[in-house]
Amino acid sequence: MFRFCCIFLAVHCVLGGNLIEVLQANGESKLIKYATACGLADTILGVTVEGAKISKFDLNASNGIVHVIDKVLVPPTGGIVDLVSGNKDLGTLLSLVQKANITGIIRRDPLTVFAPTNAAFSRLPANVLSRLNSDTALLKEVLEYHLVPHTAYSPGLYNREYIRTLDAQKDVIRLSVSGKVVSVNSYGRVIKADIPATNGVVHLIDHVLIPIRYWLSFGFGK
Ligand SMILES: *[C@@H]1O[C@H](CO)[C@@H](O)[C@H](O)[C@H]1NC(C)=O
Ligand SMILES: *[C@@H]1O[C@H](CO)[C@@H](O)[C@H](O)[C@H]1NC(C)=O
Repeated sequence: MFRFCCIFLAVHCVLGGNLIEVLQANGESKLIKYATACGLADTILGVTVEGAKISKFDLNASNGIVHVIDKVLVPPTGGIVDLVSGNKDLGTLLSLVQKANITGIIRRDPLTVFAPTNAAFSRLPANVLSRLNSDTALLKEVLEYHLVPHTAYSPGLYNREYIRTLDAQKDVIRLSVSGKVVSVNSYGRVIKADIPATNGVVHLIDHVLIPIRYWLSFGFGK
């Protein structure tokens, strides 16, 4: 019997063709029942499960394959909607999400949100903010540009990674990773990474991301 000091997912996940089977945690660690679709970010740097890097692969067990991860998983307490609603730094985002009527999209699973804080919205030029407020379709596009339809925890991100977003044009965001610092589109900095939610993960960012095709009409960009 395996006795690893870590928690095994209570779900089945396909990872690189392998099935991670349900195993119970060993006696030394708390059993965390974690029946959420697991967030897997399969990248050149490694594979993460809910933000924990998988450090060993393909250990056989009687009822499946175990992947050992490098930290104990703490179960998220709510969905991304709860998380955004409960964080006063995300009040502007919440009200715009409601205004754009995309609360349903924020409930998607899995989902990664690059969530601009109130301060990020306040950095937008006043004319851009007022256009977003007066054009719901545009607002929806711009907000959806912050959503990624898979779970992307920071340990799984890599420098010069392009990630497709959920906006209608499937615009990409470009990530820069330098040490532990993650930037998005060069002007957005992740100021708090890897906030787990039952349907994905949230990263707080300090600038609102604007798809490049809007730059001219917004009158910024070079
Ligand atoms: C795991 O099991 C497979 C198939 O039974 C076997 O080929 C492989 O060598 C085993 N791996 C280890 C690390 O025991
Ligand atoms: C909001 O979106 C839902 C679907 O998610 C839709 O049924 C509803 O009609 C929309 N409301 C408005 C005001 O557009």
